[in-house]
Amino acid sequence: MKALVVYDSVFGNTEKIAQAIGNALGSQADVETLRVGDVRPEKLMGVELLVVGSPTRGFRPTPATTGLLKRIPKNGLEGVRVAAFDTRFSESQINEGPAILSFLVGIFGYAAEPISNRLAKKGGKVVIPPEGFIVTDTEGPLQEGELERAADWAGQIMAA
Ligand SMILES: Cc1cc2nc3c(=O)[nH]c(=O)nc-3n(C[C@H](O)[C@H](O)[C@H](O)COP(=O)(O)O)c2cc1C
Repeated sequence: MKALVVYDSVFGNTEKIAQAIGNALGSQADVETLRVGDVRPEKLMGVELLVVGSPTRGFRPTPATTGLLKRIPKNGLEGVRVAAFDTRFSESQINEGPAILSFLVGIFGYAAEPISNRLAKKGGKVVIPPEGFIVTDTEGPLQEGELERAADWAGQIMAA
């Protein structure tokens, strides 16, 4: 199976998760892991599994991630299995912040869900619920165990 993992990352944490996912998929698929800026339209040709991840910034994916998803033609993911992930603060970090923050998170959420919705809108078949991986601070590091959890999540995608 041909798989493509696309990610954006500012401080490197989402990149680490993407690579853990790519490596885990690699045992069963022909996988390429690419930064969003390096994805040319032809990279999507023949892809049977597309995984897209972004840091959550301002409750949503990065503009580069959203831009890529918007450029995928209508029904361009017909027959493609898709999955979405993000990196984000933990619920307890958010609850420790100003009350307005948890209020806004309650309304607007995180990046993975809108990514998943956009992938579905382009015809993709969502094979696993969108997932978030936790950073301990804005620039990281990732919470302990998140790379292993990402590999496990990739395993669930293959089994789905
Ligand atoms: C400008 C900015 C906005 C952010 N907004 C959110 C947010 O809305 N929700 C959240 O959980 N984390 C938020 N974060 C934390 C990021 O999710 C965190 O920096 C990111 O996971 C790091 O990933 P990266 O190393 O791949 O860039 C924000 C960080 C920055 C710098």
